[in-house]
Amino acid sequence: MNNIILCGFMGSGKTVVGRELAKIMGRRFVDTDELVEKKQGIPIKAIFEAYGEDRFRDLEHEVCAETAKLKNCIISTGGGAVTFDRNVEALKRGGKIVFLDTDFETICERIGTSTNRPLFQDREKAKALFDERQEKYARAADMSVDGNMSARKTALTISQMMK
Ligand code: S3P
Repeated sequence: MNNIILCGFMGSGKTVVGRELAKIMGRRFVDTDELVEKKQGIPIKAIFEAYGEDRFRDLEHEVCAETAKLKNCIISTGGGAVTFDRNVEALKRGGKIVFLDTDFETICERIGTSTNRPLFQDREKAKALFDERQEKYARAADMSVDGNMSARKTALTISQMMK
C-alpha cells in the first residue's frame, strides 16, 4: 500500500525517474520489467522470442499483483502494463498511479538506436502504439506529470504532488 506507481510509454522515463524519486523520498525502487526477467531467468526480448508476448503479459500480470502488495515503494511498470484492466485493478489496490506524459519526439531521442524493446523496432509502428495507448495511460492514472523534463525535475515534481 501507499506505493507510487509510474506508468507511460517506453522511453517515457519511468525507470530513471523512479530511481530518482526513490532517492528523494527515501523509498525502495522496484521495476516490474526487472522482476519479470528474474522470474523467467532471461531478458524480456528473449521471453518474447522464445515464448511470445502472451507469456510475457502473464508474467507481467503476476508481477504487478505481487508488487502491488509491497509497502511504500516506487514501482516502475513496463510500457504495456496499465493498458490491461487486470493490471490496473491490481496496481490501484497498492497505491497511486502516476502517468509520465512524454512527447513521442522526446521518447525517440531517449530510445535512440537501442534494439532491446520488442515493441519498438519500427518508429512508425511505435508511433501508432503510442497514439493508441495515450488515453489508456491517462485513464489508468490518478495523476499525470510532464515527462519531458529532466529525470530530477520530474521526480521532484512528483514528490511535491504527493505532499
Ligand atoms: C513494453 C514495454 C517494455 C517491456 C516490454 C513491453 C510495452 O518496458 O515491458 O518490452 O508493451 O510497451 P519499458 O516501457 O520499460 O521499455
